Amino acid sequence: MSAEFYERPGLNVESYDALLSTVPGGDDLAFIRGLASETGGPLLELACGTGRLAIPLAEAGFEVVGLDRSGPMLDVARAKAAELSPPAGKRIRFVEGDMTDFDLPERFGLAFAVFRGFMLLLDVDAQMAALAAARRHLRPGGLLVLDLFDPRLDLLPPDAVMPERVLTGRLPSGSIVEARPHDRRTDPVRQVFAEPWVFVERDAAGTILREDHETLTMRWTYRYEMRHLLTLAGFEDLREQGDYAGGPPAYAGEQIWVARRPEEDAR
Ligand SMILES: C[S@@+](CC[C@H](N)C(=O)[O-])C[C@H]1O[C@@H](n2cnc3c(N)ncnc32)[C@H](O)[C@@H]1O
Repeated sequence: MSAEFYERPGLNVESYDALLSTVPGGDDLAFIRGLASETGGPLLELACGTGRLAIPLAEAGFEVVGLDRSGPMLDVARAKAAELSPPAGKRIRFVEGDMTDFDLPERFGLAFAVFRGFMLLLDVDAQMAALAAARRHLRPGGLLVLDLFDPRLDLLPPDAVMPERVLTGRLPSGSIVEARPHDRRTDPVRQVFAEPWVFVERDAAGTILREDHETLTMRWTYRYEMRHLLTLAGFEDLREQGDYAGGPPAYAGEQIWVARRPEEDAR
């Protein structure tokens, strides 16, 4: 998803939480909470979107900063944070910024970009810039978690046909939103795909209330490429698992990476 996918107010942003009922790979929140208990805070959620993880982590007692480049996604996150108890509300801060180029005063025990946030970086320069910025913002010994999907090779050729998918969710107003990706185009040289999505909102009688169109652009990264990028960016103790329950790396599953900023890191 080019970041533009989330940058316009509209059905995509409004329906994000309703459409995302399950996350591929299992319980990312429990996994991040477990690591956060090991590293201690503060925590940095990169590409935090609507605060899906940042908010419950603040409720669980951690100091959290959520960074995202989309103002509309952060509006949703801030509205949810305003409902927190005052102590939890004080533990969370949202910052509008780009994960490839940001400067925060804190040094974090744990930084993470889950649900494929890293795949929104569309070339190696952007990926390396984000890894360098994450490393700078970690305490020595702190951990970075990234979660990508491991690409299905049969879907990568330019003439590949994607299976049809429909996501459905209910907005707080009670109306139903259906989101359909279609006509994905892949560029195997840049390892990028662009996928138009149509969002349709209907009332209880089935009448169409709104329709929105957005294009999701993402870059896929192979597992050894990801390992080399993390190493090149100065991380160590690399661990990859295939799901949030700790399963081994698996073809076409999730690539969930945990990497450490070295203890002896003068940068
Ligand atoms: C799929 S959502 C993930 C949100 C959240 N991490 C979650 O798990 O629900 C992707 C988010 O990444 C943000 N994003 C994309 N590119 C970004 C960038 N370069 N820097 C910061 N945020 C970015 C988008 O604005 C969007 O909110």
